[in-house]
Amino acid sequence: MTTESTKIALAFSGGLDTTVCVPLLKEEYGYDEVVGITVDVGQPEAEFDEAEETADALDLEHYVIDAKAEFANLCLDAVKANADYQGYPLGTALARPIIAEAILEKAKEVGCTGIAHGCTGKGNDQLRFEAVWRESDLEVIAPVRELGLTREWEIEYAAEKNLPVESGNEGAWSIDTNLWSRSVEGDDLEDPSFIPSEDIYEWTTAPTGETELVEITFENGYPVAVDGEQLDAVSLIEYLNEFAGKYGIGRTDLMEDRMLGLKVRENYEHPAATVLLNAHEGLEQLVLTKEERSFKTQIDNQWAEKAYEGLINAPLVTALEGFINTTQERVTGTVTVKFQGGQARVVARESDFAVYSESAASFNTETVDGITQADATGVAKYHGFQSRLANSILKGAKQEAPTPMADGGEDQ
Ligand code: ARG
Repeated sequence: MTTESTKIALAFSGGLDTTVCVPLLKEEYGYDEVVGITVDVGQPEAEFDEAEETADALDLEHYVIDAKAEFANLCLDAVKANADYQGYPLGTALARPIIAEAILEKAKEVGCTGIAHGCTGKGNDQLRFEAVWRESDLEVIAPVRELGLTREWEIEYAAEKNLPVESGNEGAWSIDTNLWSRSVEGDDLEDPSFIPSEDIYEWTTAPTGETELVEITFENGYPVAVDGEQLDAVSLIEYLNEFAGKYGIGRTDLMEDRMLGLKVRENYEHPAATVLLNAHEGLEQLVLTKEERSFKTQIDNQWAEKAYEGLINAPLVTALEGFINTTQERVTGTVTVKFQGGQARVVARESDFAVYSESAASFNTETVDGITQADATGVAKYHGFQSRLANSILKGAKQEAPTPMADGGEDQ
C-alpha cells in the first residue's frame, strides 16, 4: 500500500525566514514536499532573482504569480477612500490579501493540503495572511512563530544545513517593497530617538530647491492620466513613484500602532501615493458638498482601518464602498500639483461637477439668485443663539450661588 505524498505551499521570498522554513516544514511538520510561491506585487527585479536562485539551490518547486495589475487597482481604490493608516498609505497591508489569495489558489491547484508563511508572531502580516487562508480547509502553518525562531537561530541553522542564504541576509533592516510603498524597519531604526541616515531611502532623493507642476486627471475618483497622457494603473503608479521620488516626495517616519498593540518605528517611501492622495482630496474639496466631505472622512477612516487589518474582503468594506462609489460619480476633473521641498501641494483644480459658484462667493457681486448680502442679517442674528442663552444661564447661576470663604486663610 502506498500513501500519497503530502505537499505544502509556502509564501516564498528567498529571504532567511522563508528559506529556513523549507526544511523545517518537512522535519518538524512531516510534509513530504514543499512548493514555494512568490507573488509579484511590484517588488524590485532583484527580489525575484533572489527567490529563483534560492529555490533552485533548494531544489524547490517554485512558482511566480503576477498580481501587479490587480494590486494596482486596489491601490487606486485606496485613493478613492483617501486611505492612510496613521500617515502610512498601506502598501504592505493592501498587498497581503492579494498575495494570500494568489497563493491559496495555486496551492489548491497543485494539490497541497497545507499552506505556510514565514512571518513572526509580532507583526501584522501573520494576521493578514491567515485571515484569507483560514477560509479554506488547508492546514495553516507558521513555523517561525510556532517554533519560536529567532534570527540568530535561523542563521546558525542555515549554516548547519548548508542553506543558500548568503544574499538573503546581507542587510540589517527589514524591507518590504511593492508598487505602493517601500517600508524599512529594524536594527538602528528600532530606537525612536535615532535619526535615520539618508541611505535608508531608495525611492526618494532628499528634496532640492527645484519645483515642478504636474497635472493629474481623475475619472470617477480614479486617476487616469498624468500631464494629459492616459496611463494604466500600474504604469501610472510606477511613473509617479519615479517622477515624484526625485523631488523627495512621500517620506514618512512613524511610530505605528500595530494590530497586536505593539508600537513600532517604521519608515516609508511612497511618492506616487502621496501625489495621488493629495490630488484626489483636492478634487473632492471642489466637487463634494460639505456634509458629504465630513461624513466621508468617517467612511474613509473605516476603510483604511479594515485595509490595515488585511480585511479588505470584509462585508463592511463592500458597504463602505457603496457610499464611496456614489460620491465618486462626481470626482471627475483635473488637479495641478506642485512638487516643492518634498511636498506635493494642490495648487489648482477644475471640474464640470464643481459645487462652486464664483459669482456667489465673490466680493464683487451683490445679488446672486435673488439673494443679497442683507439677507444674511437674519442668519447672523440667530447664529450662536443657543450658546449665548446657555452661557447667560450659567453666569446667572454662578452669581446666585453662595460665595466660598473670602479670606480662606485660617480655615483649611
Ligand atoms: N508596518 C507595516 C504594515 O504592517 C509594514 C510592514 C512591512 N514589513 C517590513 N518587513 N518592513 O503594514
